[in-house]
Amino acid sequence: MNELNTFKNVLNYSTCNEDSLTEIKALGINATDNILCITGSGGRVLNLLTQNPKKIVAIDFNPIQNWLLELKIAAIKNLNYDEYTKFLGLSECSERTKKFDRIKHDLSTDSYQYWKRNIRLISRGIIYQGQFERKCKYIANMVKETLGEKVNKIFDFDNLEKQREFYKKEWNNSEWKDNVDFEIHREVDPAFYLYVNNDYNIRNYISNMLDKGFNTSLIRDNHILCLLIDGNYKRLSKLPPCLQKENFDTLKNNLHKIEIVTGNVINFLEKHEANFFNKFSMSDVTGYLSEKDSKKLYKYILNSAADNSRICSRSLLADREIPIEFTNIINRDIELEKKLENEDLALAYKILAATIKF
Ligand SMILES: C[S@@+](CC[C@H](N)C(=O)[O-])C[C@H]1O[C@@H](n2cnc3c(N)ncnc32)[C@H](O)[C@@H]1O
Repeated sequence: MNELNTFKNVLNYSTCNEDSLTEIKALGINATDNILCITGSGGRVLNLLTQNPKKIVAIDFNPIQNWLLELKIAAIKNLNYDEYTKFLGLSECSERTKKFDRIKHDLSTDSYQYWKRNIRLISRGIIYQGQFERKCKYIANMVKETLGEKVNKIFDFDNLEKQREFYKKEWNNSEWKDNVDFEIHREVDPAFYLYVNNDYNIRNYISNMLDKGFNTSLIRDNHILCLLIDGNYKRLSKLPPCLQKENFDTLKNNLHKIEIVTGNVINFLEKHEANFFNKFSMSDVTGYLSEKDSKKLYKYILNSAADNSRICSRSLLADREIPIEFTNIINRDIELEKKLENEDLALAYKILAATIKF
C-alpha cells in the first residue's frame, strides 16, 4: 500500500507518545521475560528495559525507527546522563555533532550512514524531529497563539482541582479548539486513516481526549499533553522512564539485552521458534493492518508464545478485537483494561490486556 511505503521511509516518531507505565502494569515484567516490543520511537523499548527483563526483541518495519533506537542505545552506552539528555534535545546543547562523533562507532553501517546524511536532525535535538513531534510543535504554536498567557498559567498548577477549575473557566471553550488543526495528525500516521471512516471526526476525538487529560492529570506531569500544547518537555516535571536520571544506570547495564529486527512483525513471528516470547508489547500495530492480517498477527503470536504469556496493545481509532477463533486462548482482563485506560496519560487509546492460556 502506497501510504505505508511513504510512512516506512521517514522518521515518524522520535519520542514516546504512549504512556509506557500502562504496558509495564499490563505485562508485569520480570527477570525471566523474553519480550517482543514494537520499536516506534525506541522510547517504548527503553521504557520496558528499565524493568530488567531477560531479553527484548525490538521490531519495526520502518528501518529509520530502528536506526533511531540504535542511536539512543549508543548515546546511553557512551555518554553520561547529562550528556545523553543534552544530546537527545532535552536541554540546550551546541555540541551534539561532536557527541555524535563520540558514539558513532556503536552504530550499524546503515544507521551511521542515515544519521550522517541527517546530521541536522541530531543537531536540532533528535527527540523533537519525528514527523509526529514536528506536528505537535505546530499545534503547540497554534495553541499558544490562540490562548497566549493561559498556556503559561496551566503549567503553574500543582493542584488538580485548581487546574480543572481554570481549564473549565478559561480554556474549555470551543473557540480555541476551532483554531487548532488537529486533522494534521492524519498527515502523519496511517493509523489515523487507513482503516478509519473518512468522515470520522478527529477534531472531536482529540477534543474529548484533551478534556479528559486536563481534568485527570496535571499538565506538568503528563508528557503527552505537554508535547501537544508546549511542543517540548521543557516544563515537564515527570519525564518518561527512559529519560529519568534514576533509570539511567539500569539502562546502561541492560543494553545488551536488546536485539533489533527490521521487518513486518507478522512475517517475523510466523518464522519464529515456538514457546519463546512471554510478553508482547504491540503498541497500535493492528491499526495498520487489515482484518485479515490482524488475524494472522494473533495466530503467529500464539505460535511463538509460551503458556501464560501477557499481551498489551493499544488501538487508536480503528477498533480491533481479538479474532473470535482465539478468544478461548487469549483471555482479556476487561477490568484491568478499564483501569489502565483511565490511568493512561495518552488518554486516546483503547487498551487491550490479556493472558494467553493454552
Ligand atoms: C504508532 S507507532 C508507535 C510509536 C509509538 N506510539 C511510540 O511512542 O514510540 C507504530 C509503529 O509500529 C510500526 N509498525 C506498524 N505496523 C507494523 C508491522 N506490521 N510490523 C512492524 N512494525 C510495524 C510503525 O513503523 C511505527 O513505528
